[in-house]
Amino acid sequence: MPSLTDFPRDFHFGAATSAYQIEGAVHADGRGPSMWDEFAHHSGRIADKSTGDVACDHYHRMPQDVALIKTLGHNAYRFSIAWPRVLPQGTGLVNAQGLDFYERLVDALLEKGIAPYATLYHWDLPLPLHARGGWLNRDTCHAFAEFADAVARRLGDRVHSYATLNEPRCSATVGYLEGRHAPGMEDRSKSLLAAHHLLLAHGMAVPVLRSHTQTAKVGIVLDVKPYYAADPSVQTQQAVQHADGVFNRWFLDPLFLGRYPADIWQAHGEHAPDIAASDMQIIAQPIDSLGLNYYTRGHVRFDASLPYPHAREVEVPGALYTTMGWEIFPEGLHHMLLRLQQQYPVKDLFIAENGAALNDQVLDGQINDSVRVHYLHSHLMAVARAKREGVPLSAYFAWSLMDNFEWGKGYTQRFGLCHVDYATQVRTPKASAWWYQGFIASQQISQ
Ligand code: NOJ
Repeated sequence: MPSLTDFPRDFHFGAATSAYQIEGAVHADGRGPSMWDEFAHHSGRIADKSTGDVACDHYHRMPQDVALIKTLGHNAYRFSIAWPRVLPQGTGLVNAQGLDFYERLVDALLEKGIAPYATLYHWDLPLPLHARGGWLNRDTCHAFAEFADAVARRLGDRVHSYATLNEPRCSATVGYLEGRHAPGMEDRSKSLLAAHHLLLAHGMAVPVLRSHTQTAKVGIVLDVKPYYAADPSVQTQQAVQHADGVFNRWFLDPLFLGRYPADIWQAHGEHAPDIAASDMQIIAQPIDSLGLNYYTRGHVRFDASLPYPHAREVEVPGALYTTMGWEIFPEGLHHMLLRLQQQYPVKDLFIAENGAALNDQVLDGQINDSVRVHYLHSHLMAVARAKREGVPLSAYFAWSLMDNFEWGKGYTQRFGLCHVDYATQVRTPKASAWWYQGFIASQQISQ
């Protein structure tokens, strides 16, 4: 166990969720459709053919779920706000009932001393906006600023921290290049244009959020993944550099340095997006905090048969993998945190997601997920170490509070601290949830 002084008393520990993955109630109280409703129902690309129609029914069970968060000893909770609940058409008319739900959630959290961390966009783009081109249309950036305005006008400083977007890399790459997520496109130029518009939407929303808040932190959540060479060849070294550029620097550099990385821009050639002169300034305005989603590393070798960046993932002999096929590699989180601090002017960092999908078994009503305990413990140690070494870290969120709709994998992957029986909606805390509760308590003993 770590020493009790590794994390300060005001450090936030919690778990994260997102609207479409847990809420269900897709027709309730004036919610409009999102591109994920459409994708789940009609693309044929969800592993178990499921949808988020019901999910964990959190929309109707929110008070009990907040009580559960309290029971587990968390002092913060990260959730997302469904754009189609707030602006069913994506823009224009605000649906007050949609905002009412998030206001009730925030108030319930505050009443229990749990700090709310809100993410505005966790992939559920209103369908009417998708019909007009979605993230390929620059107007969507303005619509997003309108959404941010509606939310922050209502919730203001009751939210501890606002993140504009969750994982713009994933939205752009998995949604517009790999086609595994909504909207299911497979086009390199479109994916880069979507990425640019997502970053621009972030930049446009930041001053809007600030105009309604004084104390709330404003930032963004990025998925980061450090890359390592599986062999010492020069070609593999280059593949590592480019994979890192595509995954990490393509988003970090614009946000913190005001420019796209030159090596990757050049490699994209004619696929690079057309951008307006002032865009980079809008994207790069200072933010208060950066949230990171960290799950695994990339261990790759050069493979000319793959599309750019020609990096093939190679298994590491003897390593442990989750059911997502992701290697458990906590050292990568420590490396990434130190690197971010050295290379970018980040004032505050927090781990917005970290967790493992496993083949959990319920035995006599109990789930003894010892591998998840190992996962969480080893990653928390990596965070503690980086913090000791001077990285400005303020919060850690496990993914996820409960098992939920894992996008293209449907309900086949269980990431939760709490098991969900989808037939009865019963939540059962797994051994990892109780372990995490004890860990948090051990950090909060007065020092
Ligand atoms: C990142 C995403 O933000 C979240 O929605 C997803 O469930 C987890 N990764 C696990 O894949």
